[in-house]
Amino acid sequence: MKPLSVPKVSIYLQLVKGIPTNALLNEYSFCNSEKIFPMKKTNLLPVLMVGAATVALVVSAFTNAPDQLPRSARDNYLQYCASCHGENHDRFAARAWVYGNSLKEVTATLKYGRPAIGMPEFANAMTDSEISELAAYTIREVAQVPDVLPSTFNIKDKVHSMDLSFVLEEVAGGMNIPWGMGFLPDGSMLVTEKAGKLYHVKDGRQTEISGVPAVVVRGQGGLMEVTVHPDYRRNKLIYLSFADGETSDKINTTIARAVLDKGQLSKVEKIFHGSPDTNSGAHFGCRMFFDKDGYLFFGIGDRGRKENAQDLTNHCGKMHRIYDDGRIPADNPFVNTPGAMKTIWSYGHRNPQGLYYEKSTGTIWENEHGPKGGDELNIVKRGLNYGWPVISFGVNYDGTIFTNDTAKAGMEQPFHHWTPSIGPSSLTRVTSDRYPAWKGDFLSGSLSFEYVERTLIKNNRVVGRERLMPKIGRIRNVVQGPDGYIYIAVEKIGKVFKLVPVK
Ligand code: HEC
Repeated sequence: MKPLSVPKVSIYLQLVKGIPTNALLNEYSFCNSEKIFPMKKTNLLPVLMVGAATVALVVSAFTNAPDQLPRSARDNYLQYCASCHGENHDRFAARAWVYGNSLKEVTATLKYGRPAIGMPEFANAMTDSEISELAAYTIREVAQVPDVLPSTFNIKDKVHSMDLSFVLEEVAGGMNIPWGMGFLPDGSMLVTEKAGKLYHVKDGRQTEISGVPAVVVRGQGGLMEVTVHPDYRRNKLIYLSFADGETSDKINTTIARAVLDKGQLSKVEKIFHGSPDTNSGAHFGCRMFFDKDGYLFFGIGDRGRKENAQDLTNHCGKMHRIYDDGRIPADNPFVNTPGAMKTIWSYGHRNPQGLYYEKSTGTIWENEHGPKGGDELNIVKRGLNYGWPVISFGVNYDGTIFTNDTAKAGMEQPFHHWTPSIGPSSLTRVTSDRYPAWKGDFLSGSLSFEYVERTLIKNNRVVGRERLMPKIGRIRNVVQGPDGYIYIAVEKIGKVFKLVPVK
């Protein structure tokens, strides 16, 4: 048997021995990255872990232990569901059932999945009776979730990180899911709400901008990013990414630009529409940025279909590069590849939702969601293949394995990866002097665990991690503004906060 890498071991231990994901999470407030430091021969611990996991795998292969152990619905819930729905079914708060809440309907939801809304299938993970017990348990628990959840994190408290303290100052609010943030040259902020609204925030006043194009709100799709043209002073152009299509059943990621003047959008022009359109509500991407030469870059996820990411004849699972008016640059890497989509810049991505453009070096940093495990931080380069789903540090949501490979010739390794998954929604790098101790570190929004993940960098290597503001709520966006402050967008409480350092 081929030796297992350390991250795979942790996930195998988790699956085979049933260590719940959150047990692993608890011990991770500060630990070194497994991936970045090659194992030293003198360090016995990883070797022992590999040994233990191999034994566990072999034993389980013979005894089929997981099937024979009676597993309670709660155990299965924690192992398979909590990462997306919250340990206490929090994400079901104030939510209507789409496919019904009878035992039969919920059992079908769990067994076969509901791809249109992004709910995966679990037929391979549990026996039929376990699934129906879990369905009954879910129905019971969901009925008891209060509409408004008390947050265990108090936004009024001073927050202490390892090496600096700050308070949260509310900048914008009244939204369900604030998704994108952009800044105008006067320092004021634009914020999108996923449900389809765009706001302008200036000197503490929040006003809605009219003329926003209609968007389709479905699953993970809706109104997403807002990006300001680098030459906004002259042309007043802003860019919006959103889910759209002919009907709400045939959608993909779309980009439009429009003139923003006096609180109103005009001359809305769609400059990109992803192909193919499907009814899937999963994996739309779609962060955007302009590089220093004025090209617009953006990422689209695999739209819930793995195979898309290695197939150059569609837009899904790719990073793209276009001119500010939608034209395709003649030096894009696949313009001369027969059948390939000419906007493609890189491929083999699962769902890129964090993009950070480092102006000083021209480096494109990207983070993306893995499945269960295997979230990645990548340096995106022209024409390269980032491997999804051929190589990955993750496994399927139901615990089944889709690849044993974490590396392959011709496919890029992540700069860093996260197992268990943090569910990265966004990415920024601290460069300002306002947070001296954090300078050079990356911040990623965590959807799954509801905090900001700090990735500590020294000499271009990951040297540690820290969980900031645990349980504040799903972090949908984190950016460093032109004023050097960090801004975060928090779902559910629906607010944007500025992180203000204090003594
Ligand atoms: C990868 C993330 C993910 C995992 C893991 C996951 N779900 Fe879901 N599930 C979703 C999404 C996304 C939706 C639809 C959007 C939402 O949250 O409202 C959904 C919807 C549901 C629904 C509502 C269906 C309806 O008719 O409205 C139920 C019930 C459900 N999930 C139960 C579970 C259970 C039980 C598990 C564990 C076996 C599980 N889910 C695991 C992502 C997930």
